[in-house]
Amino acid sequence: MNVFQAVTTRRSIRKFRPDPVPEALIREILEAARWSPSWGNTQPWEIIVVSGESLERFKKANRQQLMDGVVPEPDTAMPEVWPDVLKRRYTEIGKKVLTTLEIARGDQEARLRYTGDMFMLFDAPCLILFCVDKALCREYAMLDVGAIQHALCLLVHARGLGSCILAASASYPALIREILPLQETKAVIIGVALGYPDGDAPINNFSRERANPDEFTTWVR
Ligand SMILES: Cc1cc2nc3c(=O)[nH]c(=O)nc-3n(C[C@H](O)[C@H](O)[C@H](O)COP(=O)(O)O)c2cc1C
Repeated sequence: MNVFQAVTTRRSIRKFRPDPVPEALIREILEAARWSPSWGNTQPWEIIVVSGESLERFKKANRQQLMDGVVPEPDTAMPEVWPDVLKRRYTEIGKKVLTTLEIARGDQEARLRYTGDMFMLFDAPCLILFCVDKALCREYAMLDVGAIQHALCLLVHARGLGSCILAASASYPALIREILPLQETKAVIIGVALGYPDGDAPINNFSRERANPDEFTTWVR
């Protein structure tokens, strides 16, 4: 798989096979991902790889928080207002997911069940959490985290694994600190669920859209 193929064929995986991801494979991926660029080669990312019993505990507790109506308080605040065009895209992907799963828009129970599955990290056998020290300039360090996170998703894909970047995994940092070795001085930026994709699942195969480059590119000659 060359880089063009990796970038254009990677997609978010929302149904995983239960097979565990061998630790050697994750190490190989991290060995490669560490070559991602960062400001001044500072490499500010701190990564927690979670699997096994600890992950099972976290997944269930994360879902429970959602079901209990606990208000998410991510270390990195999520935007509440979007310009219309971005909001439309966000709504579109939500619709696509529901249609693919044959969940009617008005079926609140099924929708909550799906959101619960998301907070269960789609039952992925592995979670990679990306964190940075709270003392750093967060916005800038997040550029670096974005770079390594995408590299990891591509490398994962190149090795036949699947990933889903999940804000839903970082919604309750207090819970993460309770279950996982994350100090108060560290901020969770985002988590990536990974595992072997269920290749046949419609949720892993629906068509996705992107804006045409002309819509977001200005050429200056
Ligand atoms: C910062 C970030 C957070 C995301 N959080 C979620 C999430 O909580 N749940 C989810 O199903 N997908 C999540 N995604 C995946 C996006 O929905 C997905 O990348 C987007 O729809 C484009 O689809 P693709 O990844 O299949 O190309 C997230 C992606 C990013 C970059």
